[in-house]
Amino acid sequence: MAKPQKRYVCQACGSATTKWQGQCVDCGEWNTLSEELSNVTVFSARHDLRTGGRSFEMLGLDADIALPPRMATGIAEFDRALGGGLVAGSATLIGGDPGIGKSTLLLQAAAKLALAGREIAYISGEEATDQVRLRARRLGLGMAPVKLASATSVRDILTTLGQGAPPALLVIDSIQTMHSDLIEGAPGTVSQVRASAHELIRFAKERGTALILVGHVTKDGSIAGPRVLEHMVDTVLAFEGERSHQYRILRAIKNRFGGTDEIGVFSMAEQGLDEVSNPSALFLTHRGDEMAGATVFPAMEGTRPVLVEIQALVVRLASGATPRRAVVGWDSGRLAMILAVLEARCGLSFSTAEVYLNVAGGYRLSDPAADLAVAAALISALAERPVPADSVTFGEVSLSGEIRPVAHGALRLKEAAKLGFRRGLVSPGLEGGDIRLSAFGTLGALVDHLLGRD
Ligand code: TYD
Ligand code: MG
Repeated sequence: MAKPQKRYVCQACGSATTKWQGQCVDCGEWNTLSEELSNVTVFSARHDLRTGGRSFEMLGLDADIALPPRMATGIAEFDRALGGGLVAGSATLIGGDPGIGKSTLLLQAAAKLALAGREIAYISGEEATDQVRLRARRLGLGMAPVKLASATSVRDILTTLGQGAPPALLVIDSIQTMHSDLIEGAPGTVSQVRASAHELIRFAKERGTALILVGHVTKDGSIAGPRVLEHMVDTVLAFEGERSHQYRILRAIKNRFGGTDEIGVFSMAEQGLDEVSNPSALFLTHRGDEMAGATVFPAMEGTRPVLVEIQALVVRLASGATPRRAVVGWDSGRLAMILAVLEARCGLSFSTAEVYLNVAGGYRLSDPAADLAVAAALISALAERPVPADSVTFGEVSLSGEIRPVAHGALRLKEAAKLGFRRGLVSPGLEGGDIRLSAFGTLGALVDHLLGRD
């Protein structure tokens, strides 16, 4: 019988070597190699996986379903992003830039649940308990019976929580500050983050506690630590926004217990995060007199329409200098495409003009239905003729200059009507309800309409 051979397997990428090294030669991670015995030859009798296992019962898709119990946080926008509330025994990772408001949101949720009589534990590895208490007081939540501690040792945390009834919710702020003494290395390293998360998640699953881990985000926008952290948890939420703007969006990136297309919208105020149940009101800037170059676009966020203002500015250049194109809140490639279609199919010339496009309120659009609204803003800016202020515009533009219908047309129009809009510039085939529709089959028809040639 062959002697079992020692080998070292990288816990990040799975590559194996026969010699221990500090850094994995394949993926470049540090301190991820751990010793494993290649037992295959030792247990050659059990080499055949086709026998010797336990057989299990298999069920149909129509078998009874045990829905996981959910716990609403009472913050409706948070619950919406979670798909209806926190699930007992599940793990949620919430990532976001420093200072975006992760700790604030979780403290508010923790306090609300504690006030509703739940047992809540909030462990901060970043701030001293006094700092957290001060913040709670500032938020008007000083009397909420949240169990608070400042700790970083996972062993201490699990020992403490292991005594008595487990909490309904455990918040760990943040996973990068946690430390497991089973593993060498400083907090925040790949192996520490993974080992700490593993133990905390095991506790949550065994004891039926809903676990929320705060995760820092690196410059490129991914959650620091191994990608594997995202695989270990049930739900990944991203908390986004511009720090210079008030609004914050909580977006589900992964959710084993719900959809990933719903968002929660908040605004950061003096008293913490306020829920924004009508986001359109937040993104529509004050709309008074008609202004050339501005259109309103009803975007879809999940199943919810959000009205945003798109602004275009076209500046004619006298000299032959290369004109600038600058975009905030939209895809610059998409803008180039709309400009090209306007030039090639509609005879409008932007080639000697600088073009600036801005989505008001710091909002970022990814909905292709914005094409037509962007085109209308550009035409209006070029011709210096305003688009009627009581109108909304949406539709997808193809390279041929055709205007294609988009999803959720009726829902977009309904939201626009609710906010007082009376006209819609859209693709053909929609029912307007309270909104008077002008339908366009091609971009050329929209140009004629906006220039008063139809
Ligand atoms: P915080 O929750 O500490 O962010 P994170 O945990 O994601 O790093 O939020 C910090 C920012 O929020 C801070 O810059 C101040 C601001 N803030 C308010 O504007 N109002 C408030 O009531 C609170 C608590 C914070
Ligand atoms: Mg924080």
